Amino acid sequence: MALTQLFRIKPTDEIVSEAGRGEGGELRRTMGLWQLTLFSVGATLGTGIFVILGQAVPKAGPAVVLAFVLAAITALFSALSYAELAGTIPVSGSSYSYAYATLGEIVAWVCGWCLMLEYAVSVAAVAVGWGEYLNTFLQGLFGWQLPAAITHSPGDKGGVVNVTAILIVLLCTWLLLGGSSESATANVVFVLIKVAVLAFFCVVAFTAFQSKNFTPFAPLGALGITAAASQVFFSYIGFDAASTAGEEAKNPKRDLPLAIIFSLVIVTAIYVLVAVAAIGAMPWTDFDPENTEASLAVIVDLATGATWPGLVVSFGAVIAIASVVLTVMYGQTRILFAMSRDGLIPKVFQKVNPRRQVPVANTLIVALFISVLAGLIPLGQLAEATSIGTLFAFAIVNVGVIVLRRTRPDLQRNFRTPLFPITPILGVIMCVVVMAGLQGVTWLAFALWMAVGFICYFLYGYRHSRLRTEVPR
Ligand code: ALA
Repeated sequence: MALTQLFRIKPTDEIVSEAGRGEGGELRRTMGLWQLTLFSVGATLGTGIFVILGQAVPKAGPAVVLAFVLAAITALFSALSYAELAGTIPVSGSSYSYAYATLGEIVAWVCGWCLMLEYAVSVAAVAVGWGEYLNTFLQGLFGWQLPAAITHSPGDKGGVVNVTAILIVLLCTWLLLGGSSESATANVVFVLIKVAVLAFFCVVAFTAFQSKNFTPFAPLGALGITAAASQVFFSYIGFDAASTAGEEAKNPKRDLPLAIIFSLVIVTAIYVLVAVAAIGAMPWTDFDPENTEASLAVIVDLATGATWPGLVVSFGAVIAIASVVLTVMYGQTRILFAMSRDGLIPKVFQKVNPRRQVPVANTLIVALFISVLAGLIPLGQLAEATSIGTLFAFAIVNVGVIVLRRTRPDLQRNFRTPLFPITPILGVIMCVVVMAGLQGVTWLAFALWMAVGFICYFLYGYRHSRLRTEVPR
């Protein structure tokens, strides 16, 4: 086995020139800046903000607001690196493709394998919780719930098969098979609804605002704030989703960097506002880590003395998760599309249906995989592992920026990371710091996942890699 092959780099021009092309047809360029931005917002603004306050506020007190800012800064360093690479190599493989162009095949494979944690596994974990939100909503509306047997994973609170999780995955599959333009339109509607619901939350919570709730501001000190920041980081995952849509964007070199930065700014503003409104309306000592699912709903009910505002918020959570499932599933299919075109995974993933201009088989396989995971496996622990995979991929992107500036200074860069190389270096450091804060068992799950990944690579990817088969050695 030649080490040179493991670290062989795919030329940037080659990656860019084959953009959009799959076997049997081409992807369609339909997405503009607005849709791309909302695509990233759709993937980011999800369960996190609806549940995380219940867990993070008891750690940091009112200073949870600073925790959101700190997590946003961590995300920002990586977002700038994503923006630079997405504007330079505007394809669909996100960090997988960037790693292939900068650090070599084996690192690209590791990155693609990590992205499966960020995308497929996380989306399964998010879908698992959907039934509970649906039930909270149905309970408020009709005083009736779906049985636990079909809304929980086997072994969890009387669950048999999590049918609701499978249902939301199938619904999103149906939208994805309709075409990227149609999926993007559905996502715009979902995002507008969830943003409107969060705006409604802020307006209602501000009517009960009490500034005394903010003193003392940081009762648990700086350590509390950093612990809360590690936790709320989850709610920022997804801002990079636009980087999986490079081959369906109308003007990717200009729009991808902007969409990534805009989405992070929009999401940060929303999170900080929601956090300020929530603490202003309810003393931080009343946040209940045992009842996180309802934290925002409880606050608006308390603020108004009625139950319908909580119902509106639960509806927002149901829609928010639908939009995360839709956009993140989309991202997973496009990353696999890029990996398949490079020969690292089977060809079926790059087949494009000529009529719909969508990778149909790829989408169906991803849907099946996620449905099985979401329907049958309780994903609690695995959900944590998604953060570690994401941070690993982020770190690689930061390194990639530094490497590409050295190896290909000539490339046209539509967006350049400011304060280079300080920003990407800080990006790597922040990723490592947040990763270090994760539990040992999460690291173990990650190590096992990577071991399986290496086995797959050496059994299949190494032998079928197009770089290996097309270039005589
Ligand atoms: N950021 C996504 C969420 O909060 C993962 O649901």
